[in-house]
Amino acid sequence: MIPRKVAGNIANVATVAHNRGGMTKRKAITLNSLQEMHARGEKIAVLTCYDALFAAVLDASGVDVLLVGDSLGNVLQGRPDTLSVSVEDMVYHTQCVARGNESAWIVADMPFGSYQESPELAFRNAARLMKAGAHMVKLEGGDWATGIVRFLVDRGIPVCAHIGLTPQSVHALGGYRVQGRDDAAVQRLLQQAEELAAAGAALLVLELVPAAVGREVTKRLPIPVIGIGAGAECSGQVLVLHDMLGLTRSKLPRFVKNFLANAGAIDEAVRHYVGAVKSGAFPDTTHSY
Ligand code: KIV
Repeated sequence: MIPRKVAGNIANVATVAHNRGGMTKRKAITLNSLQEMHARGEKIAVLTCYDALFAAVLDASGVDVLLVGDSLGNVLQGRPDTLSVSVEDMVYHTQCVARGNESAWIVADMPFGSYQESPELAFRNAARLMKAGAHMVKLEGGDWATGIVRFLVDRGIPVCAHIGLTPQSVHALGGYRVQGRDDAAVQRLLQQAEELAAAGAALLVLELVPAAVGREVTKRLPIPVIGIGAGAECSGQVLVLHDMLGLTRSKLPRFVKNFLANAGAIDEAVRHYVGAVKSGAFPDTTHSY
């Protein structure tokens, strides 16, 4: 059974989406506007999004970037990890998000096995995601991925890189553990970040590292760094939508905050999240490492 508070919020979501016609439209977010936000020090608010209804709500609530994350494997499909998510799954959910969105920037994840083998394979699958409505693709990987990033960027596909805890490598990493805990690991992360930016990545997601590492990577890079469990000093923040609405039933990592707990409705919770990211109030030290 759906709890009453959640049911009420689902109705509210529908109302928000329905009323969008009457709301003031914001200008579409582009790669240029993200770069301008970064240049003037404005934090970038990112949430995962997997469907049209939530895309409309998040867009109307001021979220800058909608990430069609392969976390949909966990969140929507009930899988233990993201490894089984397919390109078809990502195409379907990217199409849904693109239909509901008007002005946010849409990033779609390249799922496990869709890019690692060769730049050509990566291009074929990235092109499918762009045709589905993505504005940018995201891929996990360090130095080995720089050739793939360059290949895509040279062919007109904006790329967001993702380092630190990379969930597609969960078995190789020995679980969902904080990365960058010693000097050698920090140096490796800094080098990977710089090489990916030099290869043309226009955004970098940095996941599950101590706040001091988040600060250092952000300081060194010319591109926006979007942190998730990487401290307050990144250029922006991302959370999994269902986590920050308190809907996830499994144990959540320390960096997650439930924004619905002190809000009357989902759109209000999302606006609080956007405000807390923009002001630098989220994450605080209780949500950092
Ligand atoms: O798939 C996803 O949701 C992600 C975020 C955790 C950054 O990659």
